[in-house]
Parts: sequence; C-alpha cells; structure tokens
Amino acid sequence: MNILLLGSGGREHTIAWKLAQSPNLTKLFVAPGNAGTSSVATNLNLNINDFEAIKVSVLDNDIQMVIVGPEDPLVNGIHDFFLQDAVLRNIPVIGPEKKAATLEGSKDFAKKFMMRHGIPTAAYQSFTADTVKEGLNFLNTLTPPYVLKADGLAAGKGVVILENINDAKAELARMLLESKFGKASTTVVIEEFLEGIELSCFVLTDGKNYKVLPTAKDYKRIGEGDTGLNTGGMGAISPVPFANEHFMKKVKERIIVPTMRGLQEDNIPYKGFVFIGLIKVDEDPFVIEYNVRLGDPETEVVLPRIKNDLLTVFKAVANQTLDQITLEIDARSAATVMAVSGGYPEAYKKGFEIEGLDTITDSLVFHAGTASKDHKITSNGGRVLAVTSYGNDHTEALKTSYKNVDKIVFEGKYYRKDLGFDL
Ligand code: AMP
Ligand code: GLY
Repeated sequence: MNILLLGSGGREHTIAWKLAQSPNLTKLFVAPGNAGTSSVATNLNLNINDFEAIKVSVLDNDIQMVIVGPEDPLVNGIHDFFLQDAVLRNIPVIGPEKKAATLEGSKDFAKKFMMRHGIPTAAYQSFTADTVKEGLNFLNTLTPPYVLKADGLAAGKGVVILENINDAKAELARMLLESKFGKASTTVVIEEFLEGIELSCFVLTDGKNYKVLPTAKDYKRIGEGDTGLNTGGMGAISPVPFANEHFMKKVKERIIVPTMRGLQEDNIPYKGFVFIGLIKVDEDPFVIEYNVRLGDPETEVVLPRIKNDLLTVFKAVANQTLDQITLEIDARSAATVMAVSGGYPEAYKKGFEIEGLDTITDSLVFHAGTASKDHKITSNGGRVLAVTSYGNDHTEALKTSYKNVDKIVFEGKYYRKDLGFDL
C-alpha cells in the first residue's frame, strides 16, 4: 500500500517511523516532511493546504491512503475534498471531515458540543463585537484569573490568561474590536479558570468504534518550573502517573463515552484521532479543549508505546472495523526531550549544522525542524529534535534522553532540564 502523510514535524517523523515498520507498506511519501522523514520515506515538496496539488500528487504516485498530521488541512476540509471528488472518493483519509474538525477550529463550537452532551468543562460565555458590553459585564462577575480565548485557530497563541480585571477588559476589547487575532477573535470565549494538573488523552475512532491510546503529559512552557512563554511543547512523558485506573474510569465514563456518543447524535462523522486536553481538578477530569489530531510532542511518546502495526490500525479506521483490533501497549514508560533553537518561541536563527546524531544508540531521535543540505543535517525550525527513550518509569526514561540530548550539538541548542518535576 502506498501512503501519503501530510506534515513536517516531530509528530510526522514519528508516524512515518512507525508506518515504515509495517509489512503492508509499499511506498511512504511525506509532504513536506523534514530530514528525519526523508530517512524512512520520500519527501514531496507540497503545500498541505493546496488540495489540487495534493490530488495531482496522489494520482501520480498511486497513493492509496492519506494521513493528516496537523489540524490546518482538516479544518480547511481536506477530507471533504476527497469525498467530493469522483476520482479521490475511495481513497481513505485518516483525519476527520470539516464539521468534526470544527471541534478544534472553533472553541465556541466545542463548548456548545460539551454543554449539549453534559461533558465536564469550565463554565463559559461567548461574545462578539456586538456584545462587547455584555462581555465586559460578564468579566465583572468572575473571580481572577480571567481566561479569554479567541474562537478560531490562532497558531496556539489565542488563549490569554490574566490576573487583573482591567487587563482582562482591555484584552477583550483588543480581541473583539481591534481583531488582535484577526478573524480568529471575531468571537471570544470567556471561561472560568480551572486549577489543576493537565494531561493529554488520545482516542482513535472510525466513527463507530474507538480505542483509547496511552495518556501523555506535555510541557508547554519554555522555562523550567513551567515558567515563561508557551511553546508547541518542550517534551512529554507517557504514561501519566496520576492518570491511574480510577481516574481513567472517570475520564471514560464522563468524557470519552459522551464525546463518542455526542458525535453520533449530532451526525458528525469522524475517522481519526481525537485529542482531549484534560485538566484534573482535585480528583475530577474536565475538558480544556479538543484537538482533531495527535499532539506534538505527545506522539513521540505515545506511538513508540503502541506495538501494533499502525498501518493495519489505520486500515481498520478506514473500514470501520476498529472493534477487531486489540491495541498492545508497551508496559515501559517513554519520555521525550525537545531540543529547540536558541530564542524560541520568539525570534531564532536556523540553518545551523547538527552534529552527534550518529552517536546515539539507546534513544529514538525524531526530527521536528530539520533540513538536509549537502549531506549535512541543519536546524530548520524552533523545535529541532525530540529525543525519546524508554524506561521502567518516566524518571529512568528521561535520564536516558538527557544523556543523549547532551550528545547533540548545534549552535544555540536549548532544552528544559526539569521535565517531570511536577509528578
Ligand atoms: P488551549 O489552547 O485551550 O489548550 O489553552 C491553552 C492553555 O491555557 C491550556 O493548556 C491551559 O494551560 C490553559 N487554559 C485554558 N483554559 C483554561 C481554563 N479554563 N482554566 C485554566 N487554564 C486554562
Ligand atoms: N502538545 C500540544 C499540541 O500538540 O497541541
């Protein structure tokens, strides 16, 4: 089977690495990919939101399945594009249709979905430019900190949490009246602040059946002790120690089952990953957000713990026979440490040569932002490499990753040395 995988980050290198182990794979293409994916697949220089160009490439390369890594093409309707095209219609796409992708593409839509189906989440109200006065009054009724969320996709920057009521009011005005996040902040969700510890839960569904994947916890802030700016993620561990059987039973009963049932009741077809961002408040789970894809860097610790042939699993998603699959999970822990470019998540330089990769034998190195030039691997993004290791627990796994991340050399390399500090 020939496969096309869309995306270019650590998540995609991990998916490609896993697919490349499948005996059912003939040729794997990744668009646009990175230096890591080029070691297990053929990179195609395609814009992942140019569906016509993707169509040409799918037909040229006799692609029989398309797997979508990031949310953008899903929210833009790539799955619908395939279903509506006479020649592409029978080529399965792993990743939901546009309507379901709205769970990530619109926070207001996601909140309404959760309310409709009784799924625990922070209390909220939504506002537009026409109701800015009501929004300011609503802020007066809340206690700090204040959580303001741009409704649409804002490259992970659309959530603002403020301690001071006047700052919150000014921010609401900037979002609604001055389009701070462009079209994404035409609607703003204001919600109750939840105090707790976060984790990521992944569900793979074929629209009828579903499988719960291992839990993971990512570290979003750039600074040690979870300080400083938000990043795409500085590392992750799986499983999450506090997500024990008792807690996961609550997650299943209160969140996963109602989410799956809700999709069916609302006639929202879904073939792909549901990423449920959770927060544990005291002993109870609440949904912070839905994403319609795998997380990055969570993928770098979740997929290495799944023993199944991933292509067989994806075929079951396409054929709606996921009930016939039993997931086999590696009992070991996995941890990943992300090496990033100096300055990230603000301005940084790229194009530095990366050395030391071939000295690493007891970790998996997944490329995030890398390129290859004249047989050399260079940095090509903010997040550069994710170093994943196994261990009997996350502490042991992290120790191996830290040993190996130290062997990687590139100018300005930075990584967090305190992952797992809060567990
Ligand atoms: P989101 O983009 O919705 O995942 O929000 C980004 C981050 O903001 C989350 O990972 C949380 O750390 C934080 N956050 C979002 N909503 C809330 C909330 N209601 N209470 C506390 N923290 C929140
Ligand atoms: N690591 C969080 C995300 O992928 O959105």
